[in-house]
Amino acid sequence: MNGAPHAGVPDAFEITVTRKAHVAADATRVVVLQDFILSLPKSGFVALIGPSGCGKTTLLRIAAGLDQSFVGKVRNPEALRLGVVFQEPRLLPWRNVAENIALARPAAMPDNTADLADRLGFTSVLSRYPSELSLGLARRVSLARALAIDPGLLLLDEPFVSLDGASADRLREVLAQTVGQSGATVLMVTHDVVEAIGLADTLIVLSERPARILARIALPAPRGRRTIEDTEAILAEVRKAQATAG
Ligand SMILES: Nc1ncnc2c1ncn2[C@@H]1O[C@H](COP(=O)(O)OP(=O)(O)O)[C@@H](O)[C@H]1O
Ligand SMILES: [Mg+2]
Repeated sequence: MNGAPHAGVPDAFEITVTRKAHVAADATRVVVLQDFILSLPKSGFVALIGPSGCGKTTLLRIAAGLDQSFVGKVRNPEALRLGVVFQEPRLLPWRNVAENIALARPAAMPDNTADLADRLGFTSVLSRYPSELSLGLARRVSLARALAIDPGLLLLDEPFVSLDGASADRLREVLAQTVGQSGATVLMVTHDVVEAIGLADTLIVLSERPARILARIALPAPRGRRTIEDTEAILAEVRKAQATAG
């Protein structure tokens, strides 16, 4: 595929996992990642796609510094400020929506809650508590909370799953606009290849557990304006990579 959008751009973030195993309930060890290296170009938008259970969430938790029991290292040479959107929204239950967002933001930053709520469509629930929100609304708030800190690195774990099509599209658009303007580096896990093609500029196809990189596909620029032909060609490349693993 032509047009590597970040050729020559230095990496802003790098994760090396020599070995990561989880210990299952019956005490067996499950090797999830082995000899795995992932580098993120500065201001790049990398989408990870891979089968369920291959280790995507484990990798994101390691990248976020939430899981430190692995052999390897995470390099964040520019000390990029981290925003994370988990698979489950994980809002603080005893704080209302506005407070959940305000608490994430460093005190010196301007208050952008109203703007984010407007763009993401949850202004009417700013004074509600998380238990009162639908999953769709909680996902919007969770995305706003991550964007509110103007992250240098944004980690997203299937952020639009189980949303209706129109809501997901709106959130994708806000995400694309925001990171396009801020130049944030993004790593997004998704199992929706078409979503990945619409948002990312690099697609990484993972194998079954332990996750290996089957293909790193540079998507043709500009991000978000791929034609149907582009999409078909990329889908064929993804399928080919998955078939060679089988
Ligand atoms: N805390 C844990 N304890 C034991 N096994 C785990 C734990 N977390 C994940 N696993 C196992 O590790 C594998 C990878 O999980 P995960 O990273 O969540 O996959 P993915 O996000 O790609 O679906 C799965 O087989 C899962 O069952
Ligand atoms: Mg997962």
